[in-house]
Amino acid sequence: MTTHGSCTVIVGCQWGDEGKGKIVDVLAENVDIVARYQGGANAGHTVHVGEEEFILHQIPSGILHQGKRCLLGNGVVLDIVQLFQEYDALLARGVALEGRVGVSRRAQLLLPYHRLLDRAVEEATDTKIGTTGRGIGPAYEDKAGRRGVRVIDLANPERLAKRVAAAQERVVRRLEELGATEALATLERDMDEALALGPRLLELATDTGPEISAALRAGKKVLLEGAQGTALDLDHGTYPFVTSSNTTAAAAAIGTGIGPTSIDAVIGVVKAYTTRVGEGPLPTAFEPEMDARVRELGGEFGATTGRPRRCGWFDSVLARHAAQVNGLTGIAVTKLDVLDTLPELRVATAYRMPDGSVTESFPADTWSLSAVEPVYETLPGWQAPTTEARRLEDLPARARAYLNRLEELTGAPVQWVSVGTRRSQIIPCGAVA
Ligand code: IMP
Repeated sequence: MTTHGSCTVIVGCQWGDEGKGKIVDVLAENVDIVARYQGGANAGHTVHVGEEEFILHQIPSGILHQGKRCLLGNGVVLDIVQLFQEYDALLARGVALEGRVGVSRRAQLLLPYHRLLDRAVEEATDTKIGTTGRGIGPAYEDKAGRRGVRVIDLANPERLAKRVAAAQERVVRRLEELGATEALATLERDMDEALALGPRLLELATDTGPEISAALRAGKKVLLEGAQGTALDLDHGTYPFVTSSNTTAAAAAIGTGIGPTSIDAVIGVVKAYTTRVGEGPLPTAFEPEMDARVRELGGEFGATTGRPRRCGWFDSVLARHAAQVNGLTGIAVTKLDVLDTLPELRVATAYRMPDGSVTESFPADTWSLSAVEPVYETLPGWQAPTTEARRLEDLPARARAYLNRLEELTGAPVQWVSVGTRRSQIIPCGAVA
């Protein structure tokens, strides 16, 4: 199918929290539609507009630009209560929303029993994932198990009641097995609250695939916004310490209902260093003192759960893996300013495996990843503030050299650099020289 507009995917290339929301927010200015394609309220996109901070969990960050249409695709698991809390909070802050939010009729509903199960399973298991507790895993399990309840089911109360009862019954049995029945005390009330929002949700229902395809045919521009990151992808991440959806770029087509040939560009977002929240290996983790310092400098606490994020050096083994899996056409490097005071910077270029061999590929064996020793290259720090830079030329030469090296090692051109939380602090780049 020929498309006349343009369709760009924004994808995280680490363990989430790369600052995708900020990049989407800036790019959204020049597009017509922004759509989410996977995940749910586990995501937390923080966007600063003027002095105001907005944390969005479900509605795409494009919503903060007047007139843009924001869609939640079929690949999303939709927490109705959370969605309308966000929707109403935006309204209360004066954001005009009439006709601007659309939800796929095929999207799965994440219902209160999914949250109960998520928390009870985490509590009971030996291999803790450190989930966000938002019910994501159980909701995707119901989808794959063909027990899920979809937005369109809200239009048929009889079928809805049947499907919800069957899914809920199963959860109750599972909670009984796990000895976690005290969690059931508020379930009925929470279910009533969620399902009462059904008619309101149906007013937003659309078919995202045809809507996006028609927009592209009409010459419009579309951004597809990923949540979490490549290392949290169900297939390509550090399994089993991953989220329950495909976070990578190919999922953008499936999760919105367009064909993969409609996608023109894929921009990978990388933080200038690495962070991870939740369990699982982080090969380039800092020593404790440096970890505390960078966490403080970068404000590295989860937007959804408030948990402290573990921090480490930039990992180009992971970045190359992300470039390959996502087919990156460019990268956006965020939070460069967090490194402003450091005397020297390290970048992992390879891993020394437990058997002594050296690899430049991201290993499939997650447990070996916990035991690898990164091979580092050291670059001099620039030790000068970058937050006032508005053009690439304004950055210290050593900061540009650092970006150059990330570009070389990742194999994708740097297209954006962020040096702060405000829109004006996101610098568009041509060649990094
Ligand atoms: P879940 O997505 O809540 O099931 O959590 C699975 C794993 O993904 C955990 O390690 C979470 O900390 C991580 N995770 C989920 N969403 C995000 C996110 O938006 N940013 C960073 N980590 C996330």
